[in-house]
Amino acid sequence: MRTYILGIESSCDDTSAAVIANCKILANVIAGQEVHRKFGGVVPELASRAHQQNIIPVVDTALKNAGIEMNQLAAIAFTRGPGLLGSLLVGTSFAKSLSLGLGIPLIEVDHLQAHILAHFIQNETENKSVPQFPFLCLTISGGHTQIVRVEDYHIMKVIGKTIDDAAGETFDKAAKIMGMPYPGGPVIDTFAKKGNQNRFVFPKPRIPGLDFSFSGLKTSFLYFVRDELKQNPDFIVQNKSDLCASIQNSIISILIEKLKTASEITGIREIAIAGGVSANSHMRSRITEAGKEMGWNIFIPEIRFTTDNAAMIAIAGYFKYLRKEFSGQNVYPYARSKDK
Ligand code: KG4
Ligand code: ZN
Repeated sequence: MRTYILGIESSCDDTSAAVIANCKILANVIAGQEVHRKFGGVVPELASRAHQQNIIPVVDTALKNAGIEMNQLAAIAFTRGPGLLGSLLVGTSFAKSLSLGLGIPLIEVDHLQAHILAHFIQNETENKSVPQFPFLCLTISGGHTQIVRVEDYHIMKVIGKTIDDAAGETFDKAAKIMGMPYPGGPVIDTFAKKGNQNRFVFPKPRIPGLDFSFSGLKTSFLYFVRDELKQNPDFIVQNKSDLCASIQNSIISILIEKLKTASEITGIREIAIAGGVSANSHMRSRITEAGKEMGWNIFIPEIRFTTDNAAMIAIAGYFKYLRKEFSGQNVYPYARSKDK
């Protein structure tokens, strides 16, 4: 039997709706928000309004692309948090109304757990191999950097996290320092391909255990660029590719080193990456290299499931559906995990 789940994602600046049938993806529609580009970051008020404008057309298109009618849906899964409260409210209210209207279960999903569970999404045509429990997942997004020990679809323990900035945030801030548009990660990735990653060296953080820190790197990059610009106003223009390759290499090296330590401490060699920064081409090749060196079984998500998308919300919802973990109409969003 096919269980159709509609997923709704609205935690930040992407409005997305997806339909899955059991673990298979049928549709995944994402409406990005251009409006933030000129501000160099997400403007929460504008994001909420754009979600409100986008949500109906995005859901309509997802159902059409999936080739199903609304009354075939078994449940509605939505992102409850963490994220921007105003943005989350749009998706949460929409999902509540639709579940009430259709008389089907409502399922809340944690955005970070969903990034990890994206590894279980199957295409219509092939059955790809999925991580075996327990596995470690390095979740690297715009707002979070975590190493998670995944025991089961619903049992996850954060064993390391950033004590200040997230990896994606560091990419975005470095790009902003160089005058590049938001989001900076993909732009740096593109320029870095033509650059020398060893040209500029930045100090490594010394944080014990499995936690991360990126604020020192960001500050040293800022001061370095500022000092160079004093000598040569064209410094960024003339060295863009090398600057991008070098900062990217620094960020990725910090991530890979901690992941190796986590694998050694836990003895787990089933290793996955998830979140927006897992789209980074250097990250993808470095984890492949590390996998060979360490004897890991590695899992790299398809690019379309790395950045925010509703397919990951739908699959996380499906696993909850199987466990009959439903939410009441009194559910409310949370901006941070600890406000749950
Ligand atoms: O997972 P995500 O879409 O949203 C959050 O949950 O935060 O991650 C967005 C982050 C942004 O910081 C963006 O710059 C980064 O992912 N990102 C990348 C790349 N694509 C997206 N960073 C580096 N290289 C990329 N190719
Ligand atoms: Zn995300």
